[in-house]
Amino acid sequence: MKIESDFLKLGLFSPRRQGNQLNLGIIAGTLLAAVFTALVFFAFNDVRGEAADGSATWRNILLAVGGLATVVGVLTILRAITTGIRAIAMEVWIRRMGEGDLDYKVPMEGEDEITAIADSLEELRQRSIRVVRLNLVEKLASDLQAKNDELEEVLAQLHQAQDQIVTRQKLAELGELTAGVAHEIKNPLNFMRNFSEATDELLVELRETIEELDDEDRKAVGQIVDDIASNLMRIEAHGLRADRIVNDMLSLGGSGGKFESTDINEIVSLFASLAYNGSKAMHPELQLIIQEDLDPNAGEVTVIAGDIGRVVLNMVNNSCYATDEKRLAVGDGYDDYLPIVWLQTERRRDRLEIRVRDNGTGIEPDIMGKIFNPFFTTKPTDKGTGLGLSLANDIVREHGGSIEPKSQPGEYTEMVVSIPIR
Ligand SMILES: Nc1ncnc2c1ncn2[C@@H]1O[C@H](COP(=O)(O)OP(=O)(O)OP(=O)(O)O)[C@@H](O)[C@H]1O
Ligand SMILES: [Mg+2]
Repeated sequence: MKIESDFLKLGLFSPRRQGNQLNLGIIAGTLLAAVFTALVFFAFNDVRGEAADGSATWRNILLAVGGLATVVGVLTILRAITTGIRAIAMEVWIRRMGEGDLDYKVPMEGEDEITAIADSLEELRQRSIRVVRLNLVEKLASDLQAKNDELEEVLAQLHQAQDQIVTRQKLAELGELTAGVAHEIKNPLNFMRNFSEATDELLVELRETIEELDDEDRKAVGQIVDDIASNLMRIEAHGLRADRIVNDMLSLGGSGGKFESTDINEIVSLFASLAYNGSKAMHPELQLIIQEDLDPNAGEVTVIAGDIGRVVLNMVNNSCYATDEKRLAVGDGYDDYLPIVWLQTERRRDRLEIRVRDNGTGIEPDIMGKIFNPFFTTKPTDKGTGLGLSLANDIVREHGGSIEPKSQPGEYTEMVVSIPIR
């Protein structure tokens, strides 16, 4: 409502009308000046004509009226000029505002129509500034929204890429693991084959013996049967072990394992061996001694077995790489170097500690703070994605635990995994 009345008032402002008023003022002033001149003229004529009778009254009246007319005329002209100048200033203001210049304004004081219009114009200028600001804010908000949408899309793509890389990393782990498993499983299978072959031979022997059975031989048969039974027990035990290895491998391949009571020493030992054999299968020249110092009291702890295995696997993989790097740096003072990885478990009152230590290249202090960051790696692209420790860290945190890395560059690296006992 207010803004409409402002516009109405502004509509009253017409430069032509102001110009007409100026012209009228000047004409009126000029007329009044002419009246004064005429009066002065008559007055002096009168002085000359009427001097004889000495009467100056008529002349004085004419002079007074003429003087008054002059003052009024001059004032009218001055007012007309001032009004004209203010009207021009207003017109300039309105034009500049129309062109979008909202910084320009002309201060006006007084009680007249132009001042009232100037007040309205100022009010309108303020409103326009507010509207412009509002538009700017709206534009910024919509730009921001657009940028936000863009970022969300990029983030979604990033998540997708990350998922793909994690999947690739898992597949790579699985590849190494399969090589490790192949090696691991060969041992129990060899045992099983040897013992079943031996059992076969014993059975042949048994058949022959039974045919010529007498008392003494019956004793011998009893002996053979005992041996067969013992062999079968071993075959069963190794078969179970092979089965467990395959199960662990499968639980490592997929995620979402269950928390269950687990023989920690067995998991640590098995997965370290899987990592070593996996690395060895890929790099036959790898040399490494694995020394185990496993706490006989470590016992059963409730964990996701495959996941904890994965933590050990990643750490031992890193140790294989770090020790091999150092071994290959012969000539750099490492000629008598013997690559070693120590595995240690220790059951404390309320937690379990697993330590994986190697005497490899070590970690420089300036990168120590980054090693758990996803995708942080110092290895060439075909040798590492930088996800191993980040995944290990996620797993240990999921178990409510933590990993503390310790290192002396050129000397050793030790990862201390601490898991609360549930
Ligand atoms: N035992 C270690 N000795 C020396 N440096 C290590 C050791 N373990 C980790 N690092 C450093 O930490 C970095 C990150 O390790 P992480 O296991 O997360 O990734 P990666 O081994 O480089 O790649 P990925 O495990 O995905 O194959 C490594 O690149 C290496 O610089
Ligand atoms: Mg790694």
